Amino acid sequence: MKILILGQGAREHAIVKALIRTGTSPQEILVAPGNKGIAQEVECEPNIDITDRLAVDKLALEQGIELAIIGPEAPLVAGVSDSLRAQGVAVFGPSQVAAQLEGSKSFAKQIMSAAGVPTGMARQCKTIEDVEQAMEDFGAPYVIKADGLAAGKGVIVTEDSKAALEHAAEYIHMGILVEEFLAGQEVSLFFLSDGKSVMPLTPAQDFKRAFDNDKGPNTGGMGAYSPLPWLPETFIQEVEDTVALPTINELTRLGAPFVGLLYCGLIVTDRGIRVIEFNARFGDPETQVVLQRLITPLEALLYKAATGHLENASDAQFTQDVAVTVVLASEGYPAHQAPVREVKGIKKAQRVSGVEICFGSDVGRVLSVVATGKNFKKARKRAYKALSKITLDGSHYRTDIAAKVAQ
Ligand code: AMP
Ligand code: GLY
Repeated sequence: MKILILGQGAREHAIVKALIRTGTSPQEILVAPGNKGIAQEVECEPNIDITDRLAVDKLALEQGIELAIIGPEAPLVAGVSDSLRAQGVAVFGPSQVAAQLEGSKSFAKQIMSAAGVPTGMARQCKTIEDVEQAMEDFGAPYVIKADGLAAGKGVIVTEDSKAALEHAAEYIHMGILVEEFLAGQEVSLFFLSDGKSVMPLTPAQDFKRAFDNDKGPNTGGMGAYSPLPWLPETFIQEVEDTVALPTINELTRLGAPFVGLLYCGLIVTDRGIRVIEFNARFGDPETQVVLQRLITPLEALLYKAATGHLENASDAQFTQDVAVTVVLASEGYPAHQAPVREVKGIKKAQRVSGVEICFGSDVGRVLSVVATGKNFKKARKRAYKALSKITLDGSHYRTDIAAKVAQ
């Protein structure tokens, strides 16, 4: 099959690797724009703005693309799926309207409320005075969310009311959501959806804060592991029944069926499971660990979802082996952009057994080391051994990814 993947991060690299590894028939994979690391494995088309519908349509038609997989949120929110679909291409990625589940936190709250999906109480605020009032009503810790896309930086959780208000002031032009604080373990659970039915993948946990022991600012994600041995066995089914299905059914009822990946960002509180966010795409870096454990051919799964045939597919299978990923970030991430610097030692790192490297951006989240093993101790050891071979001036990574499950 001829496949187009839109995006340029380590997530897209992980998708490429999983397509190839699980592939059962000849594949031609094109990534736009891709990156230098991805270009070592498959063809890339670097000169394209992937939020430009016409440019993406043209590329897909010229190349005879049969399946398009949309990695990041920006092209989804720009409606690239809709125009590709109108050209007859099978697309794994929701429509512009359905992608509002990620693009607008207030839209997501409306859908959850209509569908009876458990989530934190929240108030929409248009002015700083509204924010102050909501903060007073909900109390500390304060959870302040920009109501739009902010590259993982739109949320602050803090005891400090001054910092909360400063954050609100920075994003008030988008609208602000003030939410009740929810305490508990976080879980990312992905579902493939064809608009009628859903299929769960395997749970992962993301480490959102920049530094060890969950210190520092929120980032796009500094590491992840899968599976989550501490979850009850009924967890996946419960999320499917109480979160994923009601959500896609509500979108279908509104005439905006969700075809693509429904990312459920959850907190397991002592009062039960709560949704903290939806994304309309694969998560980064969770995808690096989830797809590394996938056994079922990914191409067939995504094609079935894209063409409305998920119902007949048997559930995705995952290895018993566990996976850990650690992100190497450039100096100053997420606050500042470092200059582009050379990364050394990649070949040595790739020679560590059970390790793969997924390449991200030149600055920011530069790469994800992905390691598998029989248990977390083993997988962590491999991941950190590989990282010790890599040098990038000023870079940093967390040293505590999956530490708690490795004991
Ligand atoms: P979001 O972008 O909505 O996923 O939020 C980013 C991060 O902020 C989440 O991964 C959580 O760690 C934290 N967070 C978001 N909402 C809440 C909440 N209501 N209570 C506690 N932490 C939250
Ligand atoms: N890792 C969080 C995200 O992809 O949004």
